[in-house]
Amino acid sequence: MDTMALGTHHVGELPKFREEVSTAFRGAMRRLAAAVSIVTIRSKRSWHGITVTAVTSVSLEPPTLLICINRATRIHPALACAEARFCVNVLHSGQEDIATAFGGRVGADDRFRIGDWRCDDGAPYLADAQANVSCQVTAAFPHGSHTIFIGAVQQVRVAGVVSPLMYADGRYIPFVPSHPESTCQDSAIT
Ligand SMILES: Cc1cc2nc3c(=O)[nH]c(=O)nc-3n(C[C@H](O)[C@H](O)[C@H](O)COP(=O)(O)O)c2cc1C
Repeated sequence: MDTMALGTHHVGELPKFREEVSTAFRGAMRRLAAAVSIVTIRSKRSWHGITVTAVTSVSLEPPTLLICINRATRIHPALACAEARFCVNVLHSGQEDIATAFGGRVGADDRFRIGDWRCDDGAPYLADAQANVSCQVTAAFPHGSHTIFIGAVQQVRVAGVVSPLMYADGRYIPFVPSHPESTCQDSAIT
């Protein structure tokens, strides 16, 4: 399997850091509430999936997002393959059990037993997620313990009202909509 050339924009060495800064940074990040998704990919041998909060929209034209993935995870080598296709499955507030399982509580081989997972010719997708965003990796930048993967969005499905599963302070927290009767008129592009 081809491995993609990892880009790098480092200007010299990574900066040295003090332990107390690292600890304080953790504390700051605990206060940064984030929506929870499952990143999935299909390799020749199996399906892989992990829980993530490090998902960010990069640009709308062209539709692009990024994910930050720890190099120690099982999914990482598959993402680092040339032209890898992955899916970001945006969870809704009732899917804490799936987030917990894919966060490492359930072994990699049994995770896809939890939830309605399907697969056609791309990465596995969760049928009742809030959204499924299918991407192709176009660039990867290693940084510290993680790699930033840039994904060109190829296919999008959205469903239901906006009600994300949120994570802050090391736990899943309720999402309180400002408009309980959300009339969000999203359209899916396939
Ligand atoms: C709420 C939550 C958010 C997480 N976010 C990320 C993330 O953004 N990137 C990442 O690499 N790991 C993240 N993790 C950790 C991975 O989900 C975890 O390491 C994963 O289970 C590793 O899978 P593996 O055992 O198949 O390697 C997160 C875990 C949780 C519970």
